[in-house]
This record gives sequence, C-alpha cells and structure tokens, in this order.
Amino acid sequence: MQVKIEKLDHYGRGITKIENKICFVEGALKDEVVEIEVIKEKKKYYLATTKKVIEKSKDRITSNCPYYARCGGCNLDHISFEKEQEFKEEKVKEIMTKFAKISNDKIKPIIYDNPYHYRNKITLHKDDKKIGLYEKESNTIIPITKCLLLNDKLNEILKSIKPSNKKDIILKIGNKTDEILSPTAKKNYITSYIGNKKYKVSEKSFFQVNSIITEKLYDEIKEIIQEKNSKNVLDLYCGTGTIGIYICESVNKVLGIESCKDAVDDANYNKELNNATNCTYKLGKVENLTKEITSEYDTAIIDPPRSGLDKKVIKKLLEIKPKTLIYVSCDPVTLARDLNLLKEKYNIEYIRPYNMFPRTYHVECCTLLSLKK
Ligand SMILES: C[S@@+](CC[C@H](N)C(=O)[O-])C[C@H]1O[C@@H](n2cnc3c(N)ncnc32)[C@H](O)[C@@H]1O
Repeated sequence: MQVKIEKLDHYGRGITKIENKICFVEGALKDEVVEIEVIKEKKKYYLATTKKVIEKSKDRITSNCPYYARCGGCNLDHISFEKEQEFKEEKVKEIMTKFAKISNDKIKPIIYDNPYHYRNKITLHKDDKKIGLYEKESNTIIPITKCLLLNDKLNEILKSIKPSNKKDIILKIGNKTDEILSPTAKKNYITSYIGNKKYKVSEKSFFQVNSIITEKLYDEIKEIIQEKNSKNVLDLYCGTGTIGIYICESVNKVLGIESCKDAVDDANYNKELNNATNCTYKLGKVENLTKEITSEYDTAIIDPPRSGLDKKVIKKLLEIKPKTLIYVSCDPVTLARDLNLLKEKYNIEYIRPYNMFPRTYHVECCTLLSLKK
C-alpha cells in the first residue's frame, strides 16, 4: 500500500491515515510517499513499517549503522542532523502548547553539538547466546560490535566483551580521564570531569551520558544562579552531586537530596574531591523528605527522572515558594504536566531544549521559573 506522510509524531514516526484511521509509519519522513506494510492493527490506530520510499524527502539521509533497521538504540538516523534540531524544537513547542498552554515564544533555540560518539555509557543486555542491544519494541537481543552513538574507546572494548554472570553489562568511560568501568575492570567506579569539577561515578550512580552537552547545560544553570543572586540552593534529585558542586562557589550553601545510596556516597566523596564544603547530602526520596524543603531556600534546581515530580513535591515547592526554580527534564510530557501546576505561582521565563541524545527522539530541557510578584 502507498501512502503520503503528513507529519512526524513525537517519536519520529511518520503519520498518515488509512481510511480515516491514524497510522504510524516507522522510517518515513514528512511529505514522503512510501510503500508500507501494516504490522499491527489496534482499535484506534495502525502501526506500519516503510518497505520502499517512492518520493524521497530532501531531509532523508542514509544511516551508516548496519543495525539501524532493527536496533531500538536510536530512531532518527535517517534524518539530517539539521532537521533533527528542528524536529526537537517543534516537539517541545507542541507538547508545551498542548499540555501546559505555554506559548512558542517561551521556547529558546536548541543547543546541540556532535551527532555521534557522544555516549559515555552503554548498557548491554544478554541472553544465553547473545550480548547486545534490544531490537525495536522488543526484548530480542541484536548482537552488536559497534554503536555509532558510543565513545570510540568504549566501542573498542565492546568488540571483546565476554559474557558475565550479570544480567546487564554496563560500560562507562570517564571524560578526560579515560577511566573505564567494565565487568573486568579492577575498580567499580570511574572519575569524570564536567568543566573543571571532578566526579566519582559508581556503576549504579546516574551520570549524564553526553559530557559536552552537560557542560553547556551546567554553564547555563551557573549563569542563572549568578544572575538571580541565589544564596541557599536545593539540588533535588542530585545524583552524584554534579550540579550543586558545579555551582557551589557562587552560593552560600547547597542541600542535595537523592534516593540512590551509591550516588549519595559518590556525592559525599565528590564534595571532598572538589573542596565543596558548603554542600550537604541527604539520602531518600524527595517526596519522603519534604520536611527538608524549607523556606530558607531561595532557589531549587530540580532534575527528576522521566516520571517527573511527585505531587507532594510540587505542593511543597508551591508552599515554600523559592524565588527561582530551575527544572531540568528529560521528558517534555511530564515537564509540561508539572509546569502546568507550578504555573499557579510561577512565571515560566523560558524553556531551552538541549540535544543531549542526538539521533534519538529524546530531548532534554532546562526551564527557568520565577516566583510571581
Ligand atoms: C536525571 S537524574 C539527575 C541526577 C543529577 N542531577 C545529574 O545531573 O547528574 C535523576 C536522579 O534522581 C534519582 N531519583 C529517582 N527518583 C528519585 C526520588 N523519588 N527521590 C530522589 N531521587 C530520585 C535517580 O537516582 C537519579 O540520580
């Protein structure tokens, strides 16, 4: 069956209609005419794949990845990198309008850097015979010997990785130090840099995967902190203490809250490593430690997982009313949901998308909110 693609959805799939029912087409671009194969029919929509491109978009490129057609690791490697930026800006604009009634003029231009070799971490899955990445929408493993998104040195290690007892195999590399965390490494942590700050990162601790974009993001947060003259700062969902330590010289004190024990241990270590004597860390879920979120804090940096903020956390922030909120998010949908509630007492100054995960449909956003007068 031949169809014309009307636009892209937020996962980078083409959208068309078959007899008035919506159809999502994997691998097709806006304005293209493509031959499709319907792979699933649901009550409200079809899922299809592109069999052949009949009329090709000017934005289409050929992926250099041998696994691209099957692997679930990335989804936009058939789109020019320039178009990818536009796609992500538009995606953020659409989601913000739809779910939070935030106008397009609040969305700043996206920040981006290299399209490939940016990842400082990979999680490989394994079954009885194979080690690799999951196939699109499944738990079937595709053995890989190289990933275009991955740091070159980790790709070298990938070639020789041997099965181990662990379910998932995690490889990490330290920015600047080139320290490697792997199943055969002697140490179970790496040291990595962001700007001139040094961080210990253990296997289970979160650390942003794209060091170049992370530095740009943290520089923006530091600029905001200085411009707003922040004094007492909450670093909620602080991981290994990265953001608080990055900005701590500009403020009186930082309190970080984080639920992963290893990450809090790393944060305490990183505090010493960077002589960040004004930083303190508490272990626990932010929603269970709301008593720590008091009105002495004039600024809250909030960097939750994809699920966004628990209602209890939003309620507490609206109660203690820090002058400035800096909300870092890796999911624009949950961000929009939370901003819609925070808007009651805060002005959204701007939202800046960051292309933290090039060639995938994911996008990071940094939002600046100021307490209404
Ligand atoms: C997106 S990461 C941000 C980490 C850190 N700010 C950074 O940039 O490296 C989110 C962090 O929140 C932690 N986390 C998840 N749910 C949490 C919760 N309910 N309360 C506190 N921390 C949580 C995770 O362990 C993870 O370290």
